[in-house]
Amino acid sequence: MKLNPFILTLSALSSVEAFSPSTLNKRYPLRNAVFAKGRSSCDLVLYAKVGIFFGTSTGNTETVADYIAAEFGDDAEGPIEIDGIVGSVADEFAKYDALIVGTPTWNTGADSERSGTGWDEIYYGEMQDLNIAGKKVGVFGLGDQISYSENYADASGELHDVFEKLGCQMIGYTSQEGYEHENSKAIRGDLFCGLLCDEINQDDLSEERVQNWVKQLKTEGILDGSSESSASPTPTAVIDAEVVATPPAEVIVEDDVISKLEAENAMLRKLLDESKAMDKVLANDVMNGESGYKPYYNPKSLSTMWVSSDGKKCYYTKESRIP
Ligand SMILES: Cc1cc2nc3c(=O)[nH]c(=O)nc-3n(C[C@H](O)[C@H](O)[C@H](O)COP(=O)(O)O)c2cc1C
Repeated sequence: MKLNPFILTLSALSSVEAFSPSTLNKRYPLRNAVFAKGRSSCDLVLYAKVGIFFGTSTGNTETVADYIAAEFGDDAEGPIEIDGIVGSVADEFAKYDALIVGTPTWNTGADSERSGTGWDEIYYGEMQDLNIAGKKVGVFGLGDQISYSENYADASGELHDVFEKLGCQMIGYTSQEGYEHENSKAIRGDLFCGLLCDEINQDDLSEERVQNWVKQLKTEGILDGSSESSASPTPTAVIDAEVVATPPAEVIVEDDVISKLEAENAMLRKLLDESKAMDKVLANDVMNGESGYKPYYNPKSLSTMWVSSDGKKCYYTKESRIP
């Protein structure tokens, strides 16, 4: 049986004393719950949940994803690295009413699967089965508009098209003004199909671009939760506490799931810490050596991308799996 997290959460808090946004937020990561102004004290208003996802090879897309997350504050969760998702992407995306997705561009010259990240592995496989039609989706992309001026942030166009073909409502298109590219597969009409940043040549502009973009996404209704765009963020749903205050029988199941997830989370954090420590050792060795190349390990594809210190050249090595 599929459990409705809203009902479960509210069922758990059947006493009026316990039923406050801070209790909800402490116990469950339901960040967008607030009491409606001017309504009775037991009316809970739920805003849309926004999830931020990104792929990266050398960290620039993560930097911009962090800016976006900071700008949204409690209104969004993440950023979540696509290569780090354990289990199904469908389950992960299903947690959110709206998605913000980001990618870099690598593999110049190829027509598709050019992100150089986990997105390439799922675009035409796992993602094709997603049932996410109607979700609002904003795309952001990283590239180098000077060295790759004919292909600036091309992979963002592919990311956009995959979500659009799944029936998502694409938002957050931006002007091409202020960029020096010649061409890009991320152009739709006169606009970029999302926010494009360039941490190689215009890193000083990224934070301001993000601030403006997040404002734009909000005016385009990313917090609304409905599939219709609207000028002002209005609440998604109003749930009356009295109606949903039922005995907490099913909450035991929820608590069980949460403790399992917490254990899984702790294990993943440990692995991540170990991997980061290993990266540091490797990076140090290589950067202090002759090559001047820095390694970026992708645990999903078991490959390491070695990027030159100027960020303009790279090559890959792949480890084989132990049977
Ligand atoms: C070998 C190589 C190929 C690249 N190809 C492109 C490209 O086709 N278009 C583009 O805009 N940027 C290209 N870039 C630049 C990267 O997209 C840019 O460095 C980006 O910030 C990397 O993001 P990440 O750190 O999140 O992986 C390329 C860089 C290298 C080293």
